[in-house]
Amino acid sequence: MDNFFGPFLARVQPGIKVLDLGAGQGIHACWMARKGARVVAVDKKKPPTDTAGVRWIQSSIEEWYEQMPDQVQYDAILAKNVLQFLRRDWVIKQLLPELVSRLKPNGVLALETFYQSPEPVFEWLSETSHYTLEDLSPFFFNWKVLAKRQEPKKMRGIDGKRRKFFLTGLIVQRQENVSVDF
Ligand SMILES: C[S@@+](CC[C@H](N)C(=O)[O-])C[C@H]1O[C@@H](n2cnc3c(N)ncnc32)[C@H](O)[C@@H]1O
Repeated sequence: MDNFFGPFLARVQPGIKVLDLGAGQGIHACWMARKGARVVAVDKKKPPTDTAGVRWIQSSIEEWYEQMPDQVQYDAILAKNVLQFLRRDWVIKQLLPELVSRLKPNGVLALETFYQSPEPVFEWLSETSHYTLEDLSPFFFNWKVLAKRQEPKKMRGIDGKRRKFFLTGLIVQRQENVSVDF
């Protein structure tokens, strides 16, 4: 993982409960499990062959959300390069508020996703599934910001030309005794 995630990874300790949404190849989930964390990984793809120490839930995030037990709380939540694949209005109205409420005091949340501007770059990234830092920050009012970025990147776009887009990243820590009110 790149250095941006250092403040998140530094908080991964033995025994903490971690959620990795859109876990992909399980690289981060397995790394955290090796550090002794109790990791739940959710991805619609089949789990990789070796997921030692990880509780892998093969499911869409939307279905997992519907069946999530009421009381579960996490010390750390990672959603890296996955929000852009989900319906934006659902992410804004349901998923993010739920994740916020599922973090324990002092818990950390790391989000990384995309923002394409001024024109569309990726055909799979619809107009309504990309995020600026300004879109994400209001969910974490009064939280401690450990890292943030809206960093330009270049990639070949839908027209074959190299186009600029932004990688949007936010790592926040919930402060003790802060009420969450939506
Ligand atoms: C770009 S990969 C990122 C993987 C990993 N988080 C990383 O950063 O290396 C996106 C992952 O999200 C998963 N994904 C996309 N939409 C999903 C959905 N609706 N429910 C569950 N997983 C989804 C894909 O299967 C894929 O593994």
